[in-house]
Amino acid sequence: MNSHASKPELDPRPRHFLRDSDLAADELKTVLELARRVKARPRDYRRALDGRGVALLFEKPSLRTRMTFEVAARQMGGFGVFQDHRDGRIGEREPAPDIARNLDRWFDAIVARTFSHRTQELLAEWSSVPVINALSEAYHPCQALADFMTILERFGSFEGVKVAYVGDANNVAHSLLHCAPQLGVSISICGPRRYGPRQADLRAARETAAANGCEVEVTQDLISGVAGAAAVYTDVWTSMGWEQETQQRRLAFAEYQVDERVMAAARKDAVFMHCLPALRGEEVSAAVIESPQSVVFDQAENRLHAHKAILMHTMGGNNGAEG
Ligand code: CP
Ligand code: NVA
Repeated sequence: MNSHASKPELDPRPRHFLRDSDLAADELKTVLELARRVKARPRDYRRALDGRGVALLFEKPSLRTRMTFEVAARQMGGFGVFQDHRDGRIGEREPAPDIARNLDRWFDAIVARTFSHRTQELLAEWSSVPVINALSEAYHPCQALADFMTILERFGSFEGVKVAYVGDANNVAHSLLHCAPQLGVSISICGPRRYGPRQADLRAARETAAANGCEVEVTQDLISGVAGAAAVYTDVWTSMGWEQETQQRRLAFAEYQVDERVMAAARKDAVFMHCLPALRGEEVSAAVIESPQSVVFDQAENRLHAHKAILMHTMGGNNGAEG
């Protein structure tokens, strides 16, 4: 039971980005387009945040997400202040609603990486500034922005593109699962049945796919799952927070390593994708991640441009190019 004072009415509601479905399909395309413009002409956006501050509240380690949000804010004339995961979990020292109501007095946006997705929702419910999910147990929506930006760069359009996600249907997989059908991209999730996607997310993705003329497939059969894929994507078998299951997951996923045999079953011009960090010899072979097909560092670079776009989209204000 919530023991806090009643929440003041906030009008208008801030534009949070907690899950991929918080962006409608046209907004998703707008953000991807903005990310591409920012990448092409970064200096045009050097005053887009103009002195505004972003709080970075991380319960888990990060290289890419933390660095790129900080650099994004700085390069657009704003700044980021990072709270280290070693300072403990959100809600441990004081409740999330109190944290949100402190931060929103000092900052213009909150970027949070949390164990529980509920923590994201709590921050958003109580914050008067946008909350952006920098990864939770359920979704990694900022990653998916950079991923679809990378796919668009590589193939020029989403027309006829299929993404095959191999392995654990984790936060990254669920974000891909929501974005792909919004963009008309088919997706197959290949992995052991007990590590498959959540039913509610799957249903929602299938409804969107039916409306957009693409497909959502869930299969245990790796080779048929990647057949025809333009992108083969994998992630670690054990995400942060699940370390106690590492051994059992190694056994469960042993047949699902993305190696040259798997890549050969995809389209000839297929790319290999991974959000990183990667465990070579587990979910991906060293040969594949180091091959010319691998676009993992393009994905990492695009985190920066995508984060600039999502900061501008959620924070609003001076987000036009300076011309
Ligand atoms: N891909 C990704 O989110 O990387 P970090 O955990 O290093 O931020
Ligand atoms: N699924 C991984 C992604 C890390 C960026 C995790 O949650 O640990």
